[in-house]
Amino acid sequence: MESLNRVFKILASYLGLATGATVSVLLLTVANALTPQLFRRGIDEGIAPQNLQVVLVTGALMVAVAIARGLFNFGQSYWAEAASQSVAYELRGQVFRKIETLSFSYHDRVQTSQLLTRITSDIEQIRTFIGTSLVQVISSLLTLVTIATILLIMNWRLALVTLAVIPLAGALLFRFFSQNQPLFGQVQERLGDLNEVLRENLLGVRVVKAFVREPVEMQRYTQMNNQLIAVYVKTLSAIRNTFPFIFLLSNLITLAVVGYGGALVIEGTFTIGELVAFNAYLLFILQPVLLIGFAAPVIAQAAASAERVYEIIDAPIEIKNRANAATFDSCGGRITFENVWFRYPGATTPALKGVSFETKPNELIAILGMTGSGKSTVVNLIQRFYDVTEGAVRIDGRDVRDFELESLRSRIGIVFQETTLFSGSIRSNIAYAKPEASLADIIEVAKTAHIHEFVETLPAGYDTIVGERGGGLSGGQKQRIAIARTLLTPYHILILDDSTSAVDAETAAQIQTNIDKLMRDRTCCAFVIAQRISTIQSADRILLINDGELVAQGTHEQLMRTSPLYSAILESQMEQPIAALAN
Ligand SMILES: Nc1ncnc2c1ncn2[C@@H]1O[C@H](COP(=O)(O)OP(=O)(O)OP(=O)(O)O)[C@@H](O)[C@H]1O
Ligand SMILES: [Mg+2]
Repeated sequence: MESLNRVFKILASYLGLATGATVSVLLLTVANALTPQLFRRGIDEGIAPQNLQVVLVTGALMVAVAIARGLFNFGQSYWAEAASQSVAYELRGQVFRKIETLSFSYHDRVQTSQLLTRITSDIEQIRTFIGTSLVQVISSLLTLVTIATILLIMNWRLALVTLAVIPLAGALLFRFFSQNQPLFGQVQERLGDLNEVLRENLLGVRVVKAFVREPVEMQRYTQMNNQLIAVYVKTLSAIRNTFPFIFLLSNLITLAVVGYGGALVIEGTFTIGELVAFNAYLLFILQPVLLIGFAAPVIAQAAASAERVYEIIDAPIEIKNRANAATFDSCGGRITFENVWFRYPGATTPALKGVSFETKPNELIAILGMTGSGKSTVVNLIQRFYDVTEGAVRIDGRDVRDFELESLRSRIGIVFQETTLFSGSIRSNIAYAKPEASLADIIEVAKTAHIHEFVETLPAGYDTIVGERGGGLSGGQKQRIAIARTLLTPYHILILDDSTSAVDAETAAQIQTNIDKLMRDRTCCAFVIAQRISTIQSADRILLINDGELVAQGTHEQLMRTSPLYSAILESQMEQPIAALAN
């Protein structure tokens, strides 16, 4: 309920819309209550005494009230809808802003599909609640109170007979929802499961086809689909078992009103007009009870959705600026790892165990090690994608945690191990961090990354549109575009995390030569992670990581002499072509 309160606070900030909706609801209730009274007047003072003027005037009034009801009804739905859209707009914005600021570790933990669900269907639940159910509940309560009062004033005995329908229908509805609440929850859950299968199949369609798993996936989907239908059918039969009783009840009440009221009319204590009006009010009595009944589960769902949405909005940001954080605008090139221990949140074993080293200005550092040894982890700590568990990472003697994040990250250019491109043109992908870059600048970095020649061969050149996640490009082409994208940023420190793994050895070596030169000219310090020793031989120093520990460091020649592990890796890479030839 607390989360729902916060939603109400957002609603309250759209005061004009909320007031418009409330006033419309009030006016509509009044107009609704007025209509049967006009009936009464028309019959008792017009038709019965055969006074045509009263009949005509009342008729005209009824038309006017009907028009007013239409207007108020429109106003109510218009403003309620506008208010609910505004709340959804605000919530979507809040969640998105939050998602943009959350740290890597949050995204490691939380599934993308969950986040997507929250920002789409959960917010939609809240919107439906505000746009429809909330107004329904308010107007129903108002109508119930107003009409009950009118009925009691008109004839309290008949009113008590009539109002008996409320607790009875209420009890039936309550029983219905308390018995079937789990069923409604199940509908949502099944729908979620079904969508998860759909999402996986859309994202992994190529894997599904390659492994010829279409029949299995189809079967899985059909099964989920059947389960969903089964739950739907159950809800339908629950509705079928309850609602006829409620309608029967309302008919019985009508019978009672006509019977008892008719007797009163014959007795002379009640007029025909009053009886007709009374009967007209009956309609207004049962409807609110039903509406409140139907709104109840929507409110419960909206409360749960609000909870989930605020879970994101309130999630702690693990990595943020400290007070008085310094701007990172110049770099002397001395990066220090001081006995760094690091464990990924939730992991049981540390990924880095007491790593210590210091770079010298303009040094080109290569990091080498077996897969899973901790190479990417080392570079992730420099720009604070994660913070160290113990120890410190310093740049020119200052702890990276004391730098302002935005300036730190914008001055460290990284090419990630996994390439992610966005849909759009090649040009916009390269210029992602610098949209105002000129074509000449873009061509320059593309040449350095060895992708210019390829782009030239495309009919649309740099304006060629690449698909979702870089669709339409080869793995190596994507990697080289990603390199160019990073080279365009105003980096002081450059990090290449296995960025040429999908590029052939010769091209990789050429890119490396270009970047070597660039690194020495433009950066204060640079890191290259690579699997092939051939690409990193020219590095000033090689850090050899094994199982989270820095086991050796030095130049290629030094390591060849001193490190058995390095020699082993080198040997394995030399052996491969020979072994291949031998076959
Ligand atoms: N986000 C994460 N959450 C938990 N554990 C992780 C995470 N990322 C990596 N690890 C673990 O930390 C260890 C080091 O991973 P890292 O990515 O640094 O290896 P690497 O040396 O870059 O390997 P590769 O050469 O395959 O890229 C691995 O055991 C890995 O399973
Ligand atoms: Mg890695």
